[in-house]
Amino acid sequence: MKQIPFHKAHITDEEINLVVEAIKSGWLTMGPKTIEFEEKFRDYIYKDENKKGYAISCNSCTAALHLALKAIGLKSGDEVIVPTNTFIATAEVVTYFDAKPVLCDVEENTHNIDVSKIENLITEKTKAIIPVHFAGQPCDMDEILNIAKKYNLFVIEDAAHALPSRYKGRMIGTIGDITCFSFYATKTLATGEGGMATTFNENYAKNMKINRLHGISRDAWDRYTLKGSWYYEVVDNGLKYNTTDINSALGLTQLKKVDWMKKRREEIANMYTSAFKGTKVIPPEIKTDRETSWHLYVIKVNNRDELYDKLKEEGIGTSVHFIPVHKHPYYKNTFKYKDSDYPVANYVFEKSLSLPIYPDLTKEEIEYIIDKVLKYAK
Ligand SMILES: Cc1ncc(COP(=O)(O)O)c(C=O)c1O
Repeated sequence: MKQIPFHKAHITDEEINLVVEAIKSGWLTMGPKTIEFEEKFRDYIYKDENKKGYAISCNSCTAALHLALKAIGLKSGDEVIVPTNTFIATAEVVTYFDAKPVLCDVEENTHNIDVSKIENLITEKTKAIIPVHFAGQPCDMDEILNIAKKYNLFVIEDAAHALPSRYKGRMIGTIGDITCFSFYATKTLATGEGGMATTFNENYAKNMKINRLHGISRDAWDRYTLKGSWYYEVVDNGLKYNTTDINSALGLTQLKKVDWMKKRREEIANMYTSAFKGTKVIPPEIKTDRETSWHLYVIKVNNRDELYDKLKEEGIGTSVHFIPVHKHPYYKNTFKYKDSDYPVANYVFEKSLSLPIYPDLTKEEIEYIIDKVLKYAK
């Protein structure tokens, strides 16, 4: 029997050597490698744009989302619209401000926020929308931007899954007010823990840069090196969200391979999709005007729990994305969400199973997974 984990990061000697170099340099926290990673990430995201934006690194996507909401001035009592089909971080960051995450149902085909249901949720207190590009597939950004414009709302994109993804040809990271990426261990660019915010807005960029390090006016790198000076001022009530050069060393090497890794995931997705056509397995549906990163490959079946157990017995790791926010006890009790308000998310949640999809999967492993999925799916 094969043993196929749900995820395994693509790590080679190149990553290991650069991490060792970072450690040997004696500068372990945010420093030259982090600055280089930010610059290269920025160049990558904005490569097709006439004008370059900013990229601000931090230690997670959760941190990036928190910094983004701080930058737009979210306040106690405000409301932010988020899809219920997301990882809890998207809603959690709103609560950091004593603000309310207002949950929106999702579409059955993409599992993304259902834009036709957003306007009904808008009140005088609504300040922002956080679309989540589920599994890497971009949300209906034109419609979201139109609603945001009409009601004067900010758009903070949760792009934890969406590197690299494109909406009508544009890279995700160049569209909303601020976009937040994740470099968590299972993500399409993995540094263990890590995140990045991108924006065209210079003020937001400055604000996030300062607040990721205690609201201090300059980075430690500026203060401790021979180039710098010891003097600094605290100009905001900041946070401690900076990343390290060890993580950034991983990020720099992974970034070089990000297009190749996407191509590999795309090949695997194509193999899955052609095998599942005309069977009981419903494969993911990608809208024609966008490109997904293929961070996740989520099928829908009628016997999800049974299929999960059977695949586990056959040595195949799978997962479920996501338990909707409105079902988690803390959120349900605190914000009084009603299960019946989210019929599509409930349906999608019951049927969904995420299959392994990562560059190092071999052809035999993919064929083995397909074989077992088709054997047990109902
Ligand atoms: C949709 C979504 N948003 C945010 C996050 C949080 O990312 P991080 O672990 O980098 O904070 C995740 C992580 O899995 C996620 O899936």
